[in-house]
Amino acid sequence: MTIRTLVLSAFVVGVSTMASGAAPKPTVIPQPEKMELREGTFTFGPKTTIVVAADTCREGEYLAKMLATPTGFDFDLRESSQSGGCTDCVILRIVADKSHLGPEGYELTVSKDRVLVEAPTAAGVFYACQTLRQLLPAAVESECPTVGIVWTVPCVWIEDKPRYSWRGLMLDPGHNFLTKEFTKRYIDVMACYKMNRLHWHLTDMNWAIEIKKYPELTNIEKWTPITNRWRRTYGKCNRGFYTQNDVREIVAYAAKRHVVIIPEIEMPGHSSAALGCYPELACPNWEMKTKPAKRNYWNYRTNYCAGNDKTFEFLENVLSEVIELFPSPLLHIGGDERRGGDWKRCPLCQARIKAEGLKNEDELQSYFVKRIEKFLLSRGRRIIGWTEIVEGGLAPGATLQSWLKPEHAVTAANQGHDVVMSTHGNCYLNYDGGRLSLEKCYSFEPTPPGLIPEAAKHILGLEPCLWGFPQHRHDELVFPRLCAFAEVGWSPKDARDWNNFKTRLKAHGRRLDEIGINYRRDPTVWTK
Ligand code: ACM
Ligand code: ZN
Repeated sequence: MTIRTLVLSAFVVGVSTMASGAAPKPTVIPQPEKMELREGTFTFGPKTTIVVAADTCREGEYLAKMLATPTGFDFDLRESSQSGGCTDCVILRIVADKSHLGPEGYELTVSKDRVLVEAPTAAGVFYACQTLRQLLPAAVESECPTVGIVWTVPCVWIEDKPRYSWRGLMLDPGHNFLTKEFTKRYIDVMACYKMNRLHWHLTDMNWAIEIKKYPELTNIEKWTPITNRWRRTYGKCNRGFYTQNDVREIVAYAAKRHVVIIPEIEMPGHSSAALGCYPELACPNWEMKTKPAKRNYWNYRTNYCAGNDKTFEFLENVLSEVIELFPSPLLHIGGDERRGGDWKRCPLCQARIKAEGLKNEDELQSYFVKRIEKFLLSRGRRIIGWTEIVEGGLAPGATLQSWLKPEHAVTAANQGHDVVMSTHGNCYLNYDGGRLSLEKCYSFEPTPPGLIPEAAKHILGLEPCLWGFPQHRHDELVFPRLCAFAEVGWSPKDARDWNNFKTRLKAHGRRLDEIGINYRRDPTVWTK
C-alpha cells in the first residue's frame, strides 16, 4: 500500500471512530510516514504504568512528567525488560531489529490494553512519545490540571521516520536578547514538532555568551548603540547575555529533548559587539574608531582584521571556551556579509594577502575560515558557515548553510560538502506573512534541482531563521509557519498535501492555544 492510500484509509477509519464518539481523529504534525487507524481506543488512567528499560528511562520520565500536570496522574514508572504481557501500560523499548527505521524512527502501536513503542534509538522512542502526545486531547498541553477530560487515544499503528536529519530553527539573541525561560519554551515546542537543531546566533551587535577570558565582551555599554533606524525595523532591542551556567542549563535541557544546539560565533563580519569591546581587533584604519558618535549598526559593522594574528588568538581562545559548553560536533562560524572595502584599505590585511599569495579579499576570507577550521578540527569539531564562505574557496570539511541562491548549495553538495537549506525567500521568518506565506513555507523543497545523484545525501535538511525581532514578536512570526517547516523536514515528499495540512493545522490551533503560543491566525487556515 502506498503512503497516500494508508493516509486515506486512516482518514476513513478516523471518521467512523469519531462517529462512535470514541476518540478524536488524529491530526499529527508532522504527518507520519505510515499510519493505520484501528478499532477501539486506549485510555490513560491513574493506574497506567510506564514501562521502561535502563536505556529508555529518560524518555519515560519525560513522558510521565509531560502528562502529569494536565491529567493529575502520578504515573508509575517501572523498569523491566520483560514487559510483554502488561496491561494498562505504555512500553518504551529500544530494539536493535528496528534499525531500518534509522536513528530517529519509531514504531508506535496503540491497542486497547496497552501502548507499545519500539525504536532503534532513544531519539526514536522520544519522537514516538511526541506522536502519542499529539494523539491525546489538546488539553494535554495545559499547564494546569484539567477536569472532565477522558485521556483517550485511538488505536493506531504508526511506522515513522524523518526525511531529513537536520530540522532546525535559528534564534537570534545576538541581535535581540531572548531570555533563558523563553528559549526553553521554544525548545519544548520544537520537540513537539520533532525538530532537532537549535541554531543559536549568539554574537553580532550583542555578545550574548559569557567568555571568562574576555569579561569585557559582556560589557553592554561598549556594544553597538541602537539607532532609530534599527528601532523602526525591529522595534525594541533587548540587550543581555547568558552566563556559562545558563548555557550549560539550556544545552542540557535541549539534550533531554533530543535537540542539539549549534552556537554561532560570527566572524569575520557581523562582529560589532566584540569590536566595540576590543577595537584593536578591527583593521587599524577603521574610521569608526575615531568617530564614536557615528557608530551605528549599519556603519559600525566592520570585520575582524585578517592581517592581525591577535584576531586569531582571540577567536581561538573564545572558541576554546565555547567548545567546552557545547557538545555539538559542528560549530557555526558565520562568514556572511563581510563588510566590503575595509580589508581592501587595511595595510595589515593587504600584507597578509601578499604573504600568503592570495588573489583578493575573497581569498583572504577563505584563508580566515580555513585557519579557524584547522583550529577547530584540532579540537575535534567541524565548521558550518553561511553561503559566503564559498567565496574564495570553501574550507575542506565545511558544511554550508545556504541562505542565498541555491546554486551555491548545489555546487557545494556536488563537491561532497554537507548543506543545510535556509534560502531566505522561503525560510526567513522575519519576512511577514505577505512576503512569506504559510503556503510558501509548506511548499518549500529543500533538495534543490541540479544535484548529481550521489550529492542528494549531502542536503541535510532545512532551517527557518528568525532575525532581529524582540522576544514578544516571536510567536506570531514563528507560528504556525514552524509547523509547516516541521512537516517539510520530516514527512515523505509525496505525503505532503496542503489541504490536508491546513485541516490538521486548524485543529492544532487548540494545542497552540493551550501551550500559550500567540500564533498568527493565518487567513488561509483560520477563515472567518
Ligand atoms: C544572513 O542573513 N546574513 C545570513
Ligand atoms: Zn585588517
